[in-house]
Amino acid sequence: MPRPISVTISLPALRHNLSTVMTRLLASSEAVRQTMPQVWAVMKADAYGHGLLNALYAFGQAQGVAMLDMNEAVRCRQAGWTGPLLLLEGFFEPADILVAAQYNLTVAVHTQEQLDMLMAAHPVRPLDIFLKLNTGMNRLGFAPQDYRQAYSQAQQAQAQGLVRHLGKMTHFASADDSPDVTAAQIAVFNQITDGLPGSVSVCNSAATLTDSLWATLKGAQSQWVRPGICLYGASPFARISAHALDLRPAQTLAAELISVRTIGVGDAIGYGQLFTADGPMRIGVVACGYADGYPRHAPTGTPITVDGVRTRILGRVSMDMLVADLTAVPQARVGSKVVLWGRGGPSVDEVAHASGTIGYELLCAVAPRVPRLVVQ
Ligand SMILES: Cc1ncc(COP(=O)(O)O)c(C=O)c1O
Repeated sequence: MPRPISVTISLPALRHNLSTVMTRLLASSEAVRQTMPQVWAVMKADAYGHGLLNALYAFGQAQGVAMLDMNEAVRCRQAGWTGPLLLLEGFFEPADILVAAQYNLTVAVHTQEQLDMLMAAHPVRPLDIFLKLNTGMNRLGFAPQDYRQAYSQAQQAQAQGLVRHLGKMTHFASADDSPDVTAAQIAVFNQITDGLPGSVSVCNSAATLTDSLWATLKGAQSQWVRPGICLYGASPFARISAHALDLRPAQTLAAELISVRTIGVGDAIGYGQLFTADGPMRIGVVACGYADGYPRHAPTGTPITVDGVRTRILGRVSMDMLVADLTAVPQARVGSKVVLWGRGGPSVDEVAHASGTIGYELLCAVAPRVPRLVVQ
């Protein structure tokens, strides 16, 4: 018998979330609609822990898909994806350019080294590229003072038949909680790319779902948005829940109680004895620990659902187990269903918030040892 723990991936929820994003884009302001937004469904990190091919099948309505890894991109092509496929970090060595051309991959170009590699390459067909501008994230992208020079080099590559479509992109640092920072980044983007032709890709989930931001994106006749986290049913915003955004959890981490006991006043629980009972109480041991991907730093009070009743965890999370407070669940017994996050339980954002992290990290971190079930 395997341990009673599993992670369930819901393809209907993934489809629903994509449709929520697309419907919202179509229903939003004139400023958004004028840009004819198309969606690159971001599927990096094994589709945020949901399984690359699960996401690929579920996101069939997206105009394009985006990821990091060349091998993942090739797997998507081999699985039948014929639409645009963007590599968010582009290529890493000259041989990658040949693979990108062979599989018709669109690549981000964010360094002079990449441009030089491209100019020296002999791909079987021209590449579609998005030239990335660093507008303040200071991670990837050409510095504002270097961008237009890089753009004209990319145009030369176009003239030489190495590049087909030449687009422009950037990435926002704080679109989830700091409109001023985003406005400053957009101002830099507008100024530096002013008059340069080609489609534009700037919006992650938070920006995609912030209607007011779009009016400030100048001259972007063809926009490619790049939502990731919202497609998986978690919120990109700290103060707006996924539920309020009409997003459904696509990943559910569930387990069972494997032991139930009553403890008395003064009894402490688990490693470090971080929780001490101040009266008799029932507690249940859950077959899930940090080696399954549950955050070890989740403190007492982190929400959890037992037999459909919301309660809390107690004490320190161990490698293979954690303890739930059964005070509110008198009927709970060995075998009772526990939802750590997802459908029928707390949202991954709630667990992440209690643990001092973000839903992204938890969704990506479910361990390979946890059996994965897929709901078609
Ligand atoms: C370049 C790029 N675009 C889009 C995304 C998607 O972001 P989010 O998951 O916040 O929507 C990411 C994720 O980090 C990214 O690195």
